[in-house]
Amino acid sequence: MSKSADHRAALFDAAKSAMASCHAPYSKFPVGAAILAANGEIYKGANIEVISFPEGWCAETTAIGHMVMAGQTKINEVAVIAEKLDQCTPCGGCRQRLAEFGDADTKIHLCDQNGVVKTVKLGDLLPLSFATDVIA
Ligand code: THU
Repeated sequence: MSKSADHRAALFDAAKSAMASCHAPYSKFPVGAAILAANGEIYKGANIEVISFPEGWCAETTAIGHMVMAGQTKINEVAVIAEKLDQCTPCGGCRQRLAEFGDADTKIHLCDQNGVVKTVKLGDLLPLSFATDVIA
């Protein structure tokens, strides 16, 4: 098995187990995400909602928070899974947040309940993304 296939399986497992920890009583739409950071560690997240829906946040955002709090700022690969959707692509806000720590070639693995069904690049999800060297 190739090295990237190993990552896909581990990221799928992590995203699926993260989804079980979601707090989604309003949408009833559980989502899980897993990030492979540059240090080789996987950081997990699930969506967390509050009663003033839509004042919640996405699984990807939770995972990014865990990664950053662990001192990591480089995303190598991501997996996303939703209980009720076979290919859950990150929302617009999460695409921008992922772009903060990844790059155009960062792989995003879209999963169903059994594994990765499609892999896309962040640059394809967020083309012509905002960037400037004026803000420093
Ligand atoms: N959601 C995510 O967690 N990630 C996505 O990529 C898409 C949407 C969540 C947000 C909200 O809790 C629920 O799914 C329904 O939109």
